[in-house]
This record gives sequence, structure tokens and C-alpha cells, in this order.
Amino acid sequence: MPMGKENVRILIPQEDLERRVAEMAEEINRDFAQSAADQDADTDSLVCIGVLKGSVFFLVDLLKKLTFPVKVDFFQTASYGSSMTAGEVRIRKDVDLPIRGKDVLLIEDIVDTGHTLRTILGLLRFRGAKSVRLCALLDKAERREVDVPIDYCGFTIEDLFVVGYGLDFDERYRNLPYIGVLEMD
Ligand code: IMP
Ligand code: MG
Repeated sequence: MPMGKENVRILIPQEDLERRVAEMAEEINRDFAQSAADQDADTDSLVCIGVLKGSVFFLVDLLKKLTFPVKVDFFQTASYGSSMTAGEVRIRKDVDLPIRGKDVLLIEDIVDTGHTLRTILGLLRFRGAKSVRLCALLDKAERREVDVPIDYCGFTIEDLFVVGYGLDFDERYRNLPYIGVLEMD
């Protein structure tokens, strides 16, 4: 973890984020719009679930570009601190919406070890979701400990600690409009 004087180096500029989020929305529109048109919009809307708090900036930008009816909900998770419990994920806030029989789009800021998404995926399947697709803005692929199938991925990045566009270091930097790497001067 960085200590001392922190410096943020831009890794993914705002324009690149905007362009990529628009492309991801187009892809999702293509995949879901037709099936949504065939269904009853109220009972069958796609349930979009963000993982708090990091995914919020990405989720809002993405969902505004979807052209079919969606519902929105959130999980909040926390990892246990010690190495004895590495990989154990605690659900701090559960979703409010019913999941059984629903098509779900799970939206995450970054996939690191994969434990968070693996746990949530297991829970959604246990509750009887009809389908679950994963959408992640960033993928730190080389850090993966458990496999998770990312259906929509924004950018694959190196093993760097990044902040901005929702991502924090100690609750700071979330409102940067770009993704940056936290470094020390
Ligand atoms: P995972 O369970 O290891 O995949 O952890 C994913 C969570 O760790 C993300 O939802 C983030 O909250 C956090 N995280 C992982 N890498 C970073 C990073 O580089 N910057 C900020 N948060 C991160
Ligand atoms: Mg997160």
C-alpha cells in the first residue's frame, strides 16, 4: 500500500473510458434488446446489480446508454482482513429485488483475485437466477485466484493499484474522471 506523498498517474483517460463504456453498452444492447422486446417489460426486465461502492460511477454511465428496461440493485461486500481467511467474502448489504427466474447483469469496477464475483455469482445461482452475466470495467487478469467468466470486459490492466472513476484508496480518489495509478513521489 502506498505511503508518503501520493501521486496519481493517468492510466486510462476520461475520453477512453467514455468510448469504451459506450462500446460495452452497444454490445449489451445487441445481446439483450431483442429478447427484452419479446417479453413483458415489467416482469422480465434485466436486473442490473452493482457491487458498492466502486462500480457506481461505471454503472450509472453504462445504464444510461441501455435502450431497454432494466431494474437496478446493489450488493456491498467486504473481504476479511487476515491471510487465514483469504478469499472469504462477506455480504455486507444484500440486494432487495427478487432474483429467482431473473436475467441478471452483475456490474463490477475491477476483478482482482475473483473471489468477490465468484461468491456473488454462487449466491445468485443459489437463488435461482435464470441467467447471470458479468460486466467488469477492469480486469487484473494476472492476479486471478479463482476463475470467473467475464462476459463484458472494459480493459485488461497490469497488476497495478488503480484509483478513480469509482475506485478508491482508503475511500479517496473515487471522483476522479479517469483511471489512475497511485504512486509515491
Ligand atoms: P477480488 O475479490 O480480489 O476480485 O476483489 C475485487 C475488489 O477489490 C474490487 O471490487 C475492488 O473493490 C478491490 N480492488 C482490487 N484491486 C483494486 C485496485 O487496484 N484499486 C482499488 N480497488 C481494488
Ligand atoms: Mg469493488
